Amino acid sequence: MSLIFRVETLAEIGSTNDALKARALSGTEEGVVLRADVQTAGKGRRGRNWVSEAGNLYMSMLLRPGKSPAEAATLGFVAAIALGRLLRAVLSVPVQHKWPNDVLVDDRKISGILLESGGVTGGKVDWLVLGIGVNLRHHPAETLYPTTDLLAVGGPALTPDQALDLLLGEFHPLYEAWLASGFAGVRADWLAHCRGLGEPIVARLEREEISGRFEDIDADGTLLLRMNSGELKRVAAGDIFMVPRPAA
Ligand code: BTN
Repeated sequence: MSLIFRVETLAEIGSTNDALKARALSGTEEGVVLRADVQTAGKGRRGRNWVSEAGNLYMSMLLRPGKSPAEAATLGFVAAIALGRLLRAVLSVPVQHKWPNDVLVDDRKISGILLESGGVTGGKVDWLVLGIGVNLRHHPAETLYPTTDLLAVGGPALTPDQALDLLLGEFHPLYEAWLASGFAGVRADWLAHCRGLGEPIVARLEREEISGRFEDIDADGTLLLRMNSGELKRVAAGDIFMVPRPAA
């Protein structure tokens, strides 16, 4: 049966991801979407915080797709494709995907995705919480990667509710396609707009930094990095940075 979203809106919360995780653990059905005007403890990837003042979109959705942990982990790419489509529909500047799940507008990060999961029964995850933040009206200054927001790049003054409606509209058919055919069905879509593919990059991992050429992503979203030695490194988690081209 097709997924039906049930949107709940709050003025303020710690983290929409944390609140939905608690509900996932107490058995809430999939389809709940929690949006907050403000988060006081917004979470980013890899233990970072996500500045969450009023004006931007902060939302999480609870899903129970019945996928293995490896398959479930690719849902972040699906969400990034949905965000990319939404932004391309309202902007005339380049919109690209940055591995793993960021969306860049004019080469600056405009959104973030935090996918969390829990419990494995019979090889399938019990729940997924897909958290998405989109910079609509403002963006933080001090960040690992340059950032921007929709207004700053000449986009419309969307309210968080309008942005959420558009996002759910883009996400729903992609989610159904992913449920039916997995990441294989949407991988080409993500790659078609990928930033840095075939180019030199630096990957910052938990304990080291490695550099090489961004060769591809594989069937489970792992980044394949061709090192200068010729060795192919598989990068499952980390942050990547483009290597600036030398001036001509
Ligand atoms: C990133 O580091 O790029 C991921 C950021 C994810 C932020 C969103 S905002 C809504 C949801 N609730 C959170 O606490 N985090 C995610």
